[in-house]
Amino acid sequence: MTGSGSVGSVTVHGAPTIAISNRLPEPAIEVLRAAGKVRMDERAEAIPREDLLELVAGADAILTLLHDRVDEELLEAAGAQLRCVANVAVGYDNVDVAAAAARGVVVTNTPGVLDDATADLTLALILAATRRVAEGDRLVRAGRPWTWGMSFMLGSDLRGKLLGIVGLGGIGSKVAERARAFGMEVAYHSRRPAPEDVVAELGAEWMPLERLLAEADVLSLHCPLTPETHHLIGAAEIAAMKPSAVLINAARGPIVDERALAEALAAGRIAAAGLDVYEHEPRVEPGLLELENVVLVPHLGSATVETRTAMAELAARNAISVLSGQGPLTPVSS
Ligand code: DGY
Repeated sequence: MTGSGSVGSVTVHGAPTIAISNRLPEPAIEVLRAAGKVRMDERAEAIPREDLLELVAGADAILTLLHDRVDEELLEAAGAQLRCVANVAVGYDNVDVAAAAARGVVVTNTPGVLDDATADLTLALILAATRRVAEGDRLVRAGRPWTWGMSFMLGSDLRGKLLGIVGLGGIGSKVAERARAFGMEVAYHSRRPAPEDVVAELGAEWMPLERLLAEADVLSLHCPLTPETHHLIGAAEIAAMKPSAVLINAARGPIVDERALAEALAAGRIAAAGLDVYEHEPRVEPGLLELENVVLVPHLGSATVETRTAMAELAARNAISVLSGQGPLTPVSS
């Protein structure tokens, strides 16, 4: 430890090394520079595994992105001095939290700051899927002939329809709020019932998953990816949905069996889907690419300047808070 830095009311004694796996917004880097030695990979995309392992060696804290696998190998490569893994994401399925805990390494995530942006993108997917926005865009760009017609490219209204939300956490609640503004009814399923005040404010009824699948006009997934939610929506669940239903996934790809979804969409077993995330990201099931009735966007849920900055800043503050002995601001639970 050589020297000290100070950020707001937090003082970090010594100059800890903080490794960052990708370029982050400048305000977050400034926060970190004031507290320690920053070692950052400047690339904007996922870096090769060997580079990541080299980058983290000797770091006291690491800021990771959702595509960085934080496992035993990486923790070992970092070394025994490592104290914090600050994931710049609310989801932390890329982190082996138990392995980190076994080494006394605190893991943090970025809840709350991305709820609005992700809910906005979810509504964009709902609207795009129900009103055939991307399909219409492709038609116009392809120069295919069209005229306004009474039955031309009809979609479906949202008013009066039932939105089924799986996982009524921060993002799910914001989606519910927005859906109500569009005149939708809202029901939800989650393992634990949401707090009563949240449910009352949103006017959302809890349903068992089987009932939600059968009744929802739009089913939107907002649960974390865990061993229990892997392929939560597979062929059988899709078959239980209405033929007119729309499936939205802006949570994590492996929650949906992507091949089963592609088959169901191709066969018209449900009407449409909107996906922001993929089972083997960034690869997309080839069957989906052929279809008009699915809207595909490249994991853009939190992709706004304001939100990405807030996520990076929160991760930076988490790392500094742990290094300074004040404990994490938003720790994850294993
Ligand atoms: C998250 O934070 O988990 C989101 O998927 C990022 O967009």
